[in-house]
Amino acid sequence: MKVAVAGPNGTLGQAVISNLIKSNISVTVLTRDAKKTAGVFPAVSTENIVETDYSSVDALAPKLQGHDAIVILIERNAYTPQIVAIDAAIAAGVRRIIPSSWGLDMSDPYLRTIPTLKEKLDMETYLAERARSHKGFVWTGILTGVFWDWALPLGLLVDPTGEGMTYIMDGGGHVICGTLLDDVGRAVVSALKAPEEAVGNKFLQIRSVVATQSKLLEWAKAVKPEAPWKSMNVDTEKMEKAAREAWGRGERDPRALRGFLLRAYALGASDFKHLDNELLGVADGGEELARKTLEQLIRPKS
Ligand SMILES: NC(=O)c1ccc[n+]([C@@H]2O[C@H](COP(=O)([O-])OP(=O)(O)OC[C@H]3O[C@@H](n4cnc5c(N)ncnc54)[C@H](OP(=O)(O)O)[C@@H]3O)[C@@H](O)[C@H]2O)c1
Repeated sequence: MKVAVAGPNGTLGQAVISNLIKSNISVTVLTRDAKKTAGVFPAVSTENIVETDYSSVDALAPKLQGHDAIVILIERNAYTPQIVAIDAAIAAGVRRIIPSSWGLDMSDPYLRTIPTLKEKLDMETYLAERARSHKGFVWTGILTGVFWDWALPLGLLVDPTGEGMTYIMDGGGHVICGTLLDDVGRAVVSALKAPEEAVGNKFLQIRSVVATQSKLLEWAKAVKPEAPWKSMNVDTEKMEKAAREAWGRGERDPRALRGFLLRAYALGASDFKHLDNELLGVADGGEELARKTLEQLIRPKS
């Protein structure tokens, strides 16, 4: 199997590319900067690192000839490059497309109203429409909740140092689910190997862990009881309102707009009612794994 990966230098590149290579899948990496990318992925030979500026379908399609699949990891607001990658893959006869849908289920009525997710929604709508009119390919979206081992060190759920502030959403009881980056990579390989009838033209939902902020804070305190672990309650409904007002004023700083996604998680957007873990070969480690990953992050390295 020969797979192209577009947009390797972000959060998911290492996890996806290393899992493809481990599974003996031949990988072509599409990037805007081949020299930089060659330094980041020494396991990929330089002839398989292909520079593209995503400016034209006609220019990209020949580079995708002979590939069985494309996995798109491009930043979610970069709408046109994603559409060019999709159209070039279809034009080149690539059979499988995994779009840059990593995260939450955009059929959720609240998520559809978030202006910062508009490009993502538009891309998914475009891809589904193309698949309806063109039977030459199938797409598979992989929904993951929060990227767990990306979010934890950033302190998005609990401040891991114990010295800063943890912002607790609405009292801390909301269920938050997430997936480890390596599990996302594993899911990509499984999706590509699965029969089209099982994974084609649909979103699949996975998780590695589940927790609430209250539990995370409790576990964190148990590891490092000497730290202050300051916390402050935030009202996500008010934060969403503030984000909408900021958006209306033309503010585009992600910090002013974070209320949109906090509200989504507060409304249970990552707590998928149906899980496709088994199909995608991902173990659900539940609360136990959530606790273990947090403890590993906080515990002083010996
Ligand atoms: N669920 C979660 O918790 C979570 C968290 C973070 C991200 N995500 C999702 O993961 C996906 C990737 O996000 P990310 O944060 O990794 O993105 P990122 O780091 O901003 O960008 C990923 C890659 O996209 C390519 N790219 C960026 N801007 C581009 C542009 N204007 N034109 C063409 N290519 C461009 C770049 O590849 P090259 O420089 O190599 O060309 C870049 O390395 C998105 O779908 C995002 O929504 C989900």
